[in-house]
Amino acid sequence: MRNKVSIIGAGNVGASCALWLAQANVADLVLVDIPQAETMPVGKSLDLLQAGPIIGYNSRVVGTANGSYDGTENSDVLIITGGLPRKPGMSREDLVGANQQVITNIIDHALPRSPNAIIIVVTNPLDTMTYLAYQHAKLPKNRIFGQAGILDSARFAAFVAQELDVAIENVHTVVLGGHGDEMVPLTRYSTVFGVPLTEWLPADKLNALVERTRKGGGEIVNLLKTSAYYAPGAALAKMAIAVLNDSKLIVPCSAYLEGEYGLSDICFGVPVKLGANGIEQIIELKLTAEEQAMADRSVGIIRETMKALK
Ligand code: LAC
Repeated sequence: MRNKVSIIGAGNVGASCALWLAQANVADLVLVDIPQAETMPVGKSLDLLQAGPIIGYNSRVVGTANGSYDGTENSDVLIITGGLPRKPGMSREDLVGANQQVITNIIDHALPRSPNAIIIVVTNPLDTMTYLAYQHAKLPKNRIFGQAGILDSARFAAFVAQELDVAIENVHTVVLGGHGDEMVPLTRYSTVFGVPLTEWLPADKLNALVERTRKGGGEIVNLLKTSAYYAPGAALAKMAIAVLNDSKLIVPCSAYLEGEYGLSDICFGVPVKLGANGIEQIIELKLTAEEQAMADRSVGIIRETMKALK
């Protein structure tokens, strides 16, 4: 049996994710969008399918027209990218009103057709939308989670590699917390060739990279006038591949917490083990008082945003 991944929201993030996933050859893909997008998902998927013979991938890519979910049945993974992206001057939190109905609507249409799917959310404000999706879908918490920490850690890693002029593969970074400007980059756990970043860079340089990471999404919004998509799409693909391959990959994701890190009734970015059952373990790192204070600030912002959920 071939795996199936349905991507709900075939805009920039969804289409980029589809491209990365197709190249991984791990699943057939279905692209869905809203009725107003008409035949756009069909066009994008045909284009992606035709790249297969050139790049050498074998994934079958199809799209649906006019907001139809027909063809998504029995997906192994559902990826939810739908919703408005940020415009310059907007925070992720500004999107909560516009995007909450998008999320519940997608779950209502997609989940009955794929009742056993693992669901990955990327719609912003990420942690709040993941929480809403979790509450609305009423799935076990291991089966529904959000993408954020992989992207934020990747941004940090890219900046570190650039600064130190070393290969990306030598860099390992850890960014936890909410997917907002108060995210929690853990420099102590971030390394180059296994050596903590604090030994590679003076504090002011390191702080500048941390700050750039925190604002990394906004930097791109200002340049593009819309949200980033290549790296967010790649991060989603990495998560889906870990699930489909039962990789047991430890990565930061926005997970529903029940006491871990002293938090409950919230989705928050923490290291998790991803495998065939979705989140198979939540890894609890010890935080210093300073790291804990950063985490507390991030939690405060998410809880504030959650108040806007209806
Ligand atoms: C970003 C968006 C996807 O960080 O939240 O680029």
